[in-house]
Amino acid sequence: MVRLVVMTDTTIAVLVGSLRTDSVNRKLAELLAEQAPEGVTVDIVDGLGAIPFYNEDIDNPRDVPASAAALRERVGAADRVLAVTPEYNGTMPAVLNNAIDWLSRPYGAGALVGKPFGVVGATPTPYGGKWAHEDAARSARIAGATVVEDVTVSQSAIEVDVLTDPDVLDRLNRAVRTLAEYEPATVAA
Ligand SMILES: Cc1cc2nc3c(=O)[nH]c(=O)nc-3n(C[C@H](O)[C@H](O)[C@H](O)COP(=O)(O)O)c2cc1C
Repeated sequence: MVRLVVMTDTTIAVLVGSLRTDSVNRKLAELLAEQAPEGVTVDIVDGLGAIPFYNEDIDNPRDVPASAAALRERVGAADRVLAVTPEYNGTMPAVLNNAIDWLSRPYGAGALVGKPFGVVGATPTPYGGKWAHEDAARSARIAGATVVEDVTVSQSAIEVDVLTDPDVLDRLNRAVRTLAEYEPATVAA
């Protein structure tokens, strides 16, 4: 059972799965930041493309790349995490996968552990990036996040302009609200 509560001062760190200058998903993330409910800050984490591929050889306190350390710090400081991503070849883009890998370590104590996580995105196919979204959710769950399934929006961009369509934007804004308001069920003492 889940409990929905009104939250104030909630920060959602957003990981965008496309590095493209004109990325539709990036623009959607920016719209969600502009239209965030009162008390909710949607914080788009830039610089994912500058983070080296995850490699255990460079993941130690002495020489962890500054870009990866900054990612961990930014996500660690957030209350929630939202991936806004297209699909590449039936799965999530490598840049998002890499970010999740960095966030999954130290094992059992990564920045995603216990963090409510949701995923949305749009692609110009009938399924709207469904496989990428399923894979991102599974990967985040394995990294310790609490996946909030109700958040998921896999939006087809074939017949609508997802950046202006009121129904699409409403669905995505509701996804942000659902993630912001999510509270895990508490076990009665
Ligand atoms: C390498 C590559 C692989 C892709 N594979 C898929 C795919 O498997 N499924 C899908 O829905 N779209 C796929 N697409 C299309 C992307 O979803 C589309 O280009 C989308 O607009 C990219 O998102 P963006 O606008 O945020 O960059 C692929 C695009 C690229 C460049």
